[in-house]
Amino acid sequence: MTAIELRGVTKRYETGGHTVEALKGVDLAVDAGEFLSIIGPSGSGKSTMLNLLGLLDAPTEGEVWLDGIDATRFSDSEATTARREHIGFIFQDFYLIPTLTALENVTVPTVFSPGGPARDRAAALLENVGLADRLHHAPNELSGGQKQRVAIARSLINEPNVVLADEPTGNLDREIGERILETLREITGQGVTVIAVTHDEQVNEYADRVFALLDGVEQ
Ligand SMILES: Nc1ncnc2c1ncn2[C@@H]1O[C@H](COP(=O)(O)OP(=O)(O)OP(=O)(O)O)[C@@H](O)[C@H]1O
Ligand SMILES: [Mg+2]
Repeated sequence: MTAIELRGVTKRYETGGHTVEALKGVDLAVDAGEFLSIIGPSGSGKSTMLNLLGLLDAPTEGEVWLDGIDATRFSDSEATTARREHIGFIFQDFYLIPTLTALENVTVPTVFSPGGPARDRAAALLENVGLADRLHHAPNELSGGQKQRVAIARSLINEPNVVLADEPTGNLDREIGERILETLREITGQGVTVIAVTHDEQVNEYADRVFALLDGVEQ
């Protein structure tokens, strides 16, 4: 079953009177529970692709389909709801809130939900990524790999169908990178689709499929 799809997607950025065509007619369909890695040199359009898949930005041409629905027809508020309900993000810089503990950071996406902050679920997710003994630590008391695992736990708090990761192993040593990739691999076992942008060859050992981009085109 297809979880998320790009159909003939072109993305142009207009800046200072000239146009950059970051993606040029990209097609991609990713199944539920599939682990896809997107690779390509700097500037090839990887982050642009991830932003479109995550409904953070809209294509100039073409369509983004999420769970069988054309998301390019969504209003801004529908896109926000779809993002919150279906998509988890792991950003390269983690974006953890420095004044909150690990546990509180993981609950952030749930603070406005009807049941209030999902603290028990956050604790369980942190335990799953091996941080049971770090629940009450602030980000500056955690290592880079631990922060990355907090970001993974946070991406899963709303039970997304799709997790999007930009350089999930960036700046981490090989062993910690492997643990992160194993964690992402485990998530796919629960039917979650994982799409990871990377420069890292290591990811390709864990991915079901590799999508290679060059100058906005699939290679
Ligand atoms: N907001 C923007 N405005 C104008 N041009 C942009 C914008 N975002 C990206 N671009 C351009 O689009 C192209 C693709 O950028 P993108 O960030 O998708 O590349 P990338 O593959 O993620 O690169 P990297 O590996 O360096 O992160 C680049 O030429 C970039 O300069
Ligand atoms: Mg990028």
